[in-house]
Amino acid sequence: MTTRIPTTRRRFLSTAAGAGAAASLLPAPFVLAQPSKVKVGILLPYTGTYASLGHNITDAMIMAIEEAGGMLGGRPVEYVKVDSEADPAKAANNTNKLIAGEKVDFLTGPVHSGVAMAMVKIAREEGTITIVSNAGAAAVTRQMCAPNVFRTSFSNWQTCFPMGPEMMKRGRKKAVSITWNYAAGHEMIGAFKEGYVPAGGQVMKEILIPFPNIEFQAHLTEIASLKPDAVFAFFAGGGAVKFVKDYDAAGLKKTIPLHGSGFLTDGTLHAQGAAAEGVLTTLHYAESLDTPTNKRFKEAFKKRTGRTADVYAVQGYDTGQLLVHAMKSVKGDVRAKKEIMAAMRGAKLDSPRGTMSFSKAQNPIQDIYLREVRKGDNVVIGVAHKALADPGTGCGMS
Ligand code: BEZ
Repeated sequence: MTTRIPTTRRRFLSTAAGAGAAASLLPAPFVLAQPSKVKVGILLPYTGTYASLGHNITDAMIMAIEEAGGMLGGRPVEYVKVDSEADPAKAANNTNKLIAGEKVDFLTGPVHSGVAMAMVKIAREEGTITIVSNAGAAAVTRQMCAPNVFRTSFSNWQTCFPMGPEMMKRGRKKAVSITWNYAAGHEMIGAFKEGYVPAGGQVMKEILIPFPNIEFQAHLTEIASLKPDAVFAFFAGGGAVKFVKDYDAAGLKKTIPLHGSGFLTDGTLHAQGAAAEGVLTTLHYAESLDTPTNKRFKEAFKKRTGRTADVYAVQGYDTGQLLVHAMKSVKGDVRAKKEIMAAMRGAKLDSPRGTMSFSKAQNPIQDIYLREVRKGDNVVIGVAHKALADPGTGCGMS
């Protein structure tokens, strides 16, 4: 289903309509033309296990644009939303709806790495300026990198590679990893292994579960029988809530410490409750980051949505900030694609996560925080890797 959200009526009345009212008093030759709308396409999940991620990315992206006056380069904005259902099989069709059907000026999203692969393939062919606001699929900023494709989130590799050495520092030498059986799952546990094995760790077993299955019991029994020193997991959204609760309920957390990329405990703590206490994760954001930008962002998001900000909201917010910055640089002229892309490439965003810039492959260069759940909060206990860039292997852009 496609949903349209025009620039808020209130915002429109205070800006363009002011001009419109003045125009109605002028003789015909002097009537001011309304600037046409900039169309921003959004392909995100609004149903299923990743639904909460899609809502937070969308709401925070629109919040960033409204904070800048609700316009892009002086033009009103129309947001066209399509529910991706986190379904790679529907991704090409959904992307075409936005690019060929709606003729969007910009394309944003998705959450799911499999959806991203199909979406980016088409965006490259069509030349639509695209900002990936979550999916971490490596290829997006490696083999498939392109001048018109940016990512404001992370590569899957960035969020997991630093955890291996951290586990070894704690003497956790034998691990089992567990995840969903799709591109992001493979890349996350692969990146973890890439950091863990050279540091002296051994991966005893990699358990893969069909996406978006959340029946974990048999796998938890297997983990108990393998008796590893630690578990590394990638799950997100509703699946992460269920996994962390089941892990604790199975009595494993006390004897086998649980680790993961921060998606395991981000945006989920309220629902996980005490089951998440002590879980150690690595991620490019933590709500406990004590900076004026993060404080202001969290308060504004809470006020606007009634929900707690999380990493997904941050990525949406930075997508909005990037659009504002680039469109300002060309005074709203969407035909100036080269200049828009140049402005995006050179952007240095004051993000709630900290300062963020882009690598040559147009993926964020960012700090990766080590976080531990303490009293219901992802507390930053260190920086696992400062200013980490994805290797960008196979990307020819320089
Ligand atoms: C992914 O599919 O790339 C993904 C989904 C949710 C959280 C993080 C990554």
